[in-house]
Amino acid sequence: MKVSGSTVLVTGANRGLGASLVAELLRQGAAKVYAAARRPESVTAGDPRVTALALDVTDQASIDAAAEAAPDVTLLVNNAGVLGFGDVLDGDLELFERDMRTNYFGALRTARAFVPALRAAPDGAAIVNVLTLIALAPVPPMAGYSASKAAAHSMTQALRAGLKGDGIEVIGAYPGGIDTGMLAGVDADKADPEVVAARIVAGIDAGDQVIWPDDASAGAGSVYLDDPIRLERMLAG
Ligand SMILES: NC(=O)c1ccc[n+]([C@@H]2O[C@H](COP(=O)([O-])OP(=O)(O)OC[C@H]3O[C@@H](n4cnc5c(N)ncnc54)[C@H](OP(=O)(O)O)[C@@H]3O)[C@@H](O)[C@H]2O)c1
Repeated sequence: MKVSGSTVLVTGANRGLGASLVAELLRQGAAKVYAAARRPESVTAGDPRVTALALDVTDQASIDAAAEAAPDVTLLVNNAGVLGFGDVLDGDLELFERDMRTNYFGALRTARAFVPALRAAPDGAAIVNVLTLIALAPVPPMAGYSASKAAAHSMTQALRAGLKGDGIEVIGAYPGGIDTGMLAGVDADKADPEVVAARIVAGIDAGDQVIWPDDASAGAGSVYLDDPIRLERMLAG
């Protein structure tokens, strides 16, 4: 779908990749952007096309209220996410459950709530789920997070099948490490969130169903497409 002229809702829009996505969507001509955040007062985008909206993706009442307040959305970007560190054998299961509640159920609940608006969009619509390369094979110290994103990857595929024929594109974006608060203190190669946002928005405009929005994910993505077990071994190492 075309970003120019679209009405977008971005979850987790107050900081990190979400804030960069809002800026890039505006640059590429979005007509209106609902910048959704748990604390809407923390949204800083100073553009008249931006409306800050309260949305906690783990709270069904909050999601329903946001869907009612934003009935004209044509492009939904499920970006909000959390990362709890922990190994598969001894990581804190509370964190595993929190990641699943936010990254899987949060994105699923939000998608469900906005499907009626997206179905009604006259010129087509799209859902973009911000996943991660490690949805496709886990990084062992991030086992719960990887699982939650693997579930969200599966949900993305299921939505694509479920919405076939409804005029709603379903897009998965699979970044590698990004230089945001989520990876603060982690020593790793990290892409600039502005670059990642620009590639995601360009992918939406190009009609891509799968977006590798940085060089690291593009390289690892081609390994995955060629030999999924090789990616698993790479990330396990
Ligand atoms: N950083 C990376 O290396 C990386 C790599 C691949 C994919 N990703 C994905 O990219 C997306 C954005 O992450 P980021 O790097 O920008 O992380 P971030 O800087 O930690 O920002 C996370 C955003 O999600 C919001 N959020 C968390 N829980 C929420 C909830 N229950 N309801 C609504 N909003 C919630 C946060 O809001 P508050 O300010 O209220 O906490 C914040 O706006 C996530 O889906 C993440 O998994 C990140």
